[in-house]
Amino acid sequence: MRIIEAQDYKDMSRKAANVISAQMILKPESVIGLATGSTPIGVYDQLTEWYKKGDLDFSKIHTVNLDEYKGIDAENKQSYHYFMNQHLFSRVNIELQNTFVPDGMNENQNEECQRYEKLIAGLGGVDLQLLGLGHNGHIGFNEPAEVFVKQTHCVSLSEKTIQANQRFFESKEQVPKQAYTMGIGTIMSARKILIIISGEDKAEAVKKSFGEEISPHVPASILQLHHDVTVIADKAALSKLD
Ligand code: F6R
Repeated sequence: MRIIEAQDYKDMSRKAANVISAQMILKPESVIGLATGSTPIGVYDQLTEWYKKGDLDFSKIHTVNLDEYKGIDAENKQSYHYFMNQHLFSRVNIELQNTFVPDGMNENQNEECQRYEKLIAGLGGVDLQLLGLGHNGHIGFNEPAEVFVKQTHCVSLSEKTIQANQRFFESKEQVPKQAYTMGIGTIMSARKILIIISGEDKAEAVKKSFGEEISPHVPASILQLHHDVTVIADKAALSKLD
């Protein structure tokens, strides 16, 4: 595991965008695993800027996203699909048919989870997976649990998460109660993993994930076993790691 210290959020974003750019230049037909949330926004902005300067070409790139809410469609502004269109796909020359996000509108959980696993395998696996880190050490929607769940699966969101998400929806009924997520095994199958972390509020999660023992109670700790992980975190996020 390589741990790279960045000065701040902007520096973290540039360094991570450099790693993704290098992957794209070395293998223009790369399969890149993507994350949503606030952390990767700066990375997507930086990649867009370099694309606009003519330094990057997304025309042969394929992407697979980590997760999606169940029960809302790609046009819903709260969907992860919408987020990806807004922050990256609509801004660069990627072919939309080469971008994949779990289908939140598929009611049939088993079918959707198997379809997504097969899709990733059919693409030849993920070359580089980008991850963010949750405050409780989650990656994707893999929350602390008694066991690591291997493959893509459907998770029930905690009451706390549902309540926190309520502000984005008109009523509590509209807030998604479940989500599809790549499993820990799916994530660990990526040939390379890049995890980005910013802010002092993540320092405890960083320490538990990378400075302590591996446990399903801290899902990101499993990354210690992956052969090619790069952690790019700012000083604040690394402040509790010895
Ligand atoms: C999103 C995802 C989540 C986030 C994590 C951190 O696709 O997989 O695991 O990476 O919740 O979120 P932010 O970046 O908003 O702190």
